[in-house]
Amino acid sequence: MLQLFHLSPEKAASLQQQLREQIARAILNGNMPLEKPLPSSRKLAKQLNIARNTVVLTYEHLLDDGYLLARERSGYYVNPAILSRKPAAPRVEPAPRTQDAPDWSRHFVLNPSAQRNKIKPRDWQNFPYPFIYGQFDPALFPTANWRECCRDAVSVPAIRDWASDRLDNDDPLLMEQIRTRLLPRRGVWARPEQILVTVGAQQALYILARLLLDKDRCLGIEDPGYMDVRNIALLNPSRVLPLPVDEHGLIIDDRLAACDCVYVTPSHQCPTTVTMPLERRYELLERAHRHDFLIIEDDYESETNYRSNPTPALKSLDRNERVIYTGSLSKTLAPGLRVGYLVGPEPLIREARALRRLMVRHPAANNQRSVALFLERGYHDALMMTLMQAYEERSQAMHAALDEFLPESSQQPAFGGSCYWVKGPDNLDARVLRQLAAERGVLIEPGDIHFHSENAPQNFFRLGYSSIPVERIRPGIEILAELIQGLCP
Ligand SMILES: Cc1ncc(COP(=O)(O)O)c(C=O)c1O
Repeated sequence: MLQLFHLSPEKAASLQQQLREQIARAILNGNMPLEKPLPSSRKLAKQLNIARNTVVLTYEHLLDDGYLLARERSGYYVNPAILSRKPAAPRVEPAPRTQDAPDWSRHFVLNPSAQRNKIKPRDWQNFPYPFIYGQFDPALFPTANWRECCRDAVSVPAIRDWASDRLDNDDPLLMEQIRTRLLPRRGVWARPEQILVTVGAQQALYILARLLLDKDRCLGIEDPGYMDVRNIALLNPSRVLPLPVDEHGLIIDDRLAACDCVYVTPSHQCPTTVTMPLERRYELLERAHRHDFLIIEDDYESETNYRSNPTPALKSLDRNERVIYTGSLSKTLAPGLRVGYLVGPEPLIREARALRRLMVRHPAANNQRSVALFLERGYHDALMMTLMQAYEERSQAMHAALDEFLPESSQQPAFGGSCYWVKGPDNLDARVLRQLAAERGVLIEPGDIHFHSENAPQNFFRLGYSSIPVERIRPGIEILAELIQGLCP
């Protein structure tokens, strides 16, 4: 039995955690006899060459969890009750296909997997030059501060607070932090009834599509623009009207009159990175009022503005309650956390909350509490300062390298942000470039996916710099330029 246990000091888990997990697994797998006591702590410690106390504490932990029974003067035994609830062993072989398996294609009313979407390699962290967009940088992640907040979010009083079924409610502490700390930075003032916490801005956009669109309604989207909004709207289904974008963002003209709703990224147009000037924002609001359409403002990267004075959010200029605002912590804290928020007039938030309840009830309450503490303690503000400094430096390095190796292919974003939108030679196919670049360790994102038409220009690509160390930028862009030269001599 002792051969069952292999402990390694190199593993992330402590020796005690490893031993506890291995004994529990051996019990559940039926590898520990019921009739014989477990080895004494002294014997097991000697055998495994670990401290006796480690074994004593492990046995006590297993006793507390009901894996073991203590018999006086005889030692610890496996508790047979734990085996009565043992799950069936997983099947190694998949179940054989039967003749009458359903034809799944006939059952689906939606086919989201068939939509055009971008590919994000899972192993991006293994590439030396990850010009990937929308990822985080492990070197900049505030590990100690985040851990502290997670730990405090699982204190006994905190668990009492969040662990119950909250139906459709959000963590009041997080609502307060969003209301008083994040939104005022964007000139937005909202009451709690005007805010909904979402599973990333993505869920906010999905909820809005469900609430506001149907086959007869028309959503105006930026072209090029955020592909997930296009996909969400097309899936709903609703009519989608691509609206062109210039160096000041969405072009405001009579096409807007046909829309019931318009999706915009005014602070940092996705993907071109341009910022909509104030006059154009007012013009858009005036059109919304005149033609009676709603505006969805996606302020997804508002917090990474380090190059210009922040332009107030469209929402902050809105006097007619036409702007619905979405924000996110993905671009500052971490995309994997999935925390975003939706701000809008009370009737809209009421419906959004009710719909969210049907979908997920609410985003995980422990996650909400950890984020709330992170904001409350000022760690998010400190993080933003760190990110801004790093991004500013990287942006300068990007600018210099692009200027040197791919001159006139891009504009330095006036806003900041974390990416460049690059236009290659007219005959470049950025999808081919992506493949060749990946073979040389360089990750890029072809831009065709952002265009509405399937016959999109192929020569654009996006270079993110949120995850690449500054010293890798120049060599990475040099490789890209060399590959482009080879493809388009
Ligand atoms: C333009 C835009 N909007 C929204 C989102 C979704 O953000 P979240 O991670 O908060 O769901 C993204 C994600 O990359 C994005 O690029």
